[in-house]
Amino acid sequence: MKNQKKFIGIGTFLLEGADTYTCVSSALTTGYRLVDTASVYENEREVGKAIEDSGISRESIFVSTKLFAKRKGYKETIEECKESLKRLGLSYLDIYFIHWMPRTYEDLLDTWRGMEYLYENGYCKAIGVCNITLYYLDKLLKDAKIPPMFCQIEVHPFLQQEVFIEYCRANHIEVIGYGLFAKGLVFENETLKVLAQKHHTTVANLILSWALKKGIIPLVKSKSVNRIKTNFTDNFEMSAELFSDIRNLNDGLRVYRDPENNPYV
Ligand SMILES: NC(=O)c1ccc[n+]([C@@H]2O[C@H](COP(=O)([O-])OP(=O)(O)OC[C@H]3O[C@@H](n4cnc5c(N)ncnc54)[C@H](OP(=O)(O)O)[C@@H]3O)[C@@H](O)[C@H]2O)c1
Repeated sequence: MKNQKKFIGIGTFLLEGADTYTCVSSALTTGYRLVDTASVYENEREVGKAIEDSGISRESIFVSTKLFAKRKGYKETIEECKESLKRLGLSYLDIYFIHWMPRTYEDLLDTWRGMEYLYENGYCKAIGVCNITLYYLDKLLKDAKIPPMFCQIEVHPFLQQEVFIEYCRANHIEVIGYGLFAKGLVFENETLKVLAQKHHTTVANLILSWALKKGIIPLVKSKSVNRIKTNFTDNFEMSAELFSDIRNLNDGLRVYRDPENNPYV
């Protein structure tokens, strides 16, 4: 079986200082090549150091970071991206994201112009938005000179985001999913426990394989070096029947903020 796990990204939310360095270093040694951070996580320096010390060539690693939610507009977006690059010790990003939609659509557009500048001037190889509603994504696609190439959103068995993902697929936008373990709730779910047992795998592996089968790029974070390893190396072939069993768990539960009630808007 093709090891699709190579597409999984390591997340760094809630990792501080030395933990960030250890986790990103272990992930890179294990084989992860996508590393996700954000200026608000306050760990870009440690992420950059782990990348530098890994000895892996820059072109082989995919790095994403995000514009702080309270900064917006053309000028601040460009400034903040340059600050992130400095903290990371990198000359370019692979993806630069808007972390949260600003207060108004006009602010979003002005911010997007900054993102377009950064892309056109080689500061990042791709630009994207996190936590955007379908309504604003659709508007942005119509008004942007350069369309978003990636969207990062909450996805897990209880929030399967089928309509959003389908829209992105139709518009050539790659979806990166976060919160795949629903802040740990998946490990308490009886159906998932029974399914994992029946298929001789773990709930974590079941979910990551499900996400890959959905055609999204899953991000996972762990403080445990052992989990970082098994999340990437455990293999599992997801059958269509099992995929459909997991589909039945979709009930719209959110464990992160709902972009429809975005506190920054
Ligand atoms: N764009 C955004 O707004 C946004 C929002 C949230 C997250 N993200 C990104 O997405 C990444 C992943 O999301 P996340 O950190 O919320 O959630 P997650 O990957 O779903 O992880 C939730 C928790 O599951 C535990 N875990 C990991 N592997 C496990 C395993 N094999 N077995 C049992 N437990 C396991 C981890 O705890 P331990 O550390 O104790 O192992 C972790 O804290 C973040 O780190 C961040 O980079 C982006």
